[in-house]
Amino acid sequence: MQLSVIGCGYLGAVHAAAMASLGHTVVGIDVDVAKVAKLSAGETPFFEPGLDEILKAGIDSGRLSFSTDYAAIADADVHFIGVGTPQRRDAAGADMTYVDSAIAGILPHAKAGSLIVGKSTVPVGTAARLAEIVRPKGVRLVWNPEFLREGFAVKDTVDPDRLVYGVDGDTRDEDVATLDAVYASILERDTPRLVTDFATAELVKAAANSFLATKISFINAMAEIAEVTGANVTELADAIGHDERIGRKFLNAGIGFGGGCLPKDIRAFAARAEELGKGESVAFLKQVDEINLRRRERVVDLVVDSFDGQPYGRRVAVLGLAFKPDSDDIRDSPALDVAVRLKGLGAKVVSYDPQAMETARRAHPQLTYADSLDEALTGAETVVVATEWKQFKQLDATETAQKVERAVVIDGRNILDPDTWREAGWTYTGMGR
Ligand code: UDX
Repeated sequence: MQLSVIGCGYLGAVHAAAMASLGHTVVGIDVDVAKVAKLSAGETPFFEPGLDEILKAGIDSGRLSFSTDYAAIADADVHFIGVGTPQRRDAAGADMTYVDSAIAGILPHAKAGSLIVGKSTVPVGTAARLAEIVRPKGVRLVWNPEFLREGFAVKDTVDPDRLVYGVDGDTRDEDVATLDAVYASILERDTPRLVTDFATAELVKAAANSFLATKISFINAMAEIAEVTGANVTELADAIGHDERIGRKFLNAGIGFGGGCLPKDIRAFAARAEELGKGESVAFLKQVDEINLRRRERVVDLVVDSFDGQPYGRRVAVLGLAFKPDSDDIRDSPALDVAVRLKGLGAKVVSYDPQAMETARRAHPQLTYADSLDEALTGAETVVVATEWKQFKQLDATETAQKVERAVVIDGRNILDPDTWREAGWTYTGMGR
């Protein structure tokens, strides 16, 4: 099929390349000239395992192209909207500017009978509003939320846990058939496919992210209690996780969640519920956010305590800047936040991340970046593990002790073995254990 994907950021670029890998002919549209040039040359604008290969293969096959000109979508049967819905600057709600301009860009060029498929995370009610705008132009609209995780974005797109189609009652059969044709090779694998109305599809995404965020903040709340009682939150998570109704996944206590999705999505959902007069229904999300932000403070406090309250001029190695491993994304990253706060307290912070140094350097030129993990560790008086990269998990406690000035480690992700590190002479502090 002929497809267009509007927005070539994280979601859109992965979606465009993934759809080409499924055999479709795809044009990706973005207003950013530099990004379009890069993608057209087969270069990924961000780090994502597996994207490189499918991007290059798509371009070499002639089935994948990128453009800044909406006229390039004229032949497409389906137009995906994969633009960002960031948090508004003036409020907690989602900024819909990019979605609205994607619709405005598509309509003059879309052929009659083509289908617009919203993938972006939007406030409930958006699809119904947009359907009113596109209907008079003879164009249909569905909402098909994306659940991809960074680091697994390609896999999550071509092999998702489920597909959700939010459709309009009037054109339901036609819309479902079109989406089924787009996703034919995914559906062949018996991937669950749920057909809902607009509002349910929009809420599925908000609910899924709220649940995940709540799970993390729940275990971090237990970590806070564990910290004052001497309990071990990792053992607690293992024990409750054996109950299948609870499950062990997303119960890793630590420095908290970040990234371009969970933090902004729970705030936007709470703001939307407020607008709908149902703020109280999701009032707990405010606490989820607060618990999450307290974890960063906890790490900063532990570093300050490690210097008896006097961090000024002391050397701290912050290992990790990305909000999670296998990503160079620093959006709302707890790791970066901790580095910035410690620097603000006068500590000599030296940061290192296997992938996110370039993005971090652009956003925070005032921070000091080490060229290697070794360089970050050398002379450090306190080491903070802030992102759970494999390289940090694999650090040898004895060898590392020889590099630092003082063997003090704060394990913000609970990835080091406390006994091994203590035996090697370290003062080890984990999160809630
Ligand atoms: C998330 C959702 O998982 C995905 O389904 C949705 O579409 C977009 O948002 P992503 O932002 O890529 O994906 O990251 P995810 O893997 O969910 O991790 C989010 C944050 O939570 C990271 O900062 C991670 O370190 C943290 N986390 C995760 C924990 O602190 N503890 C855990 O147990 C799990």
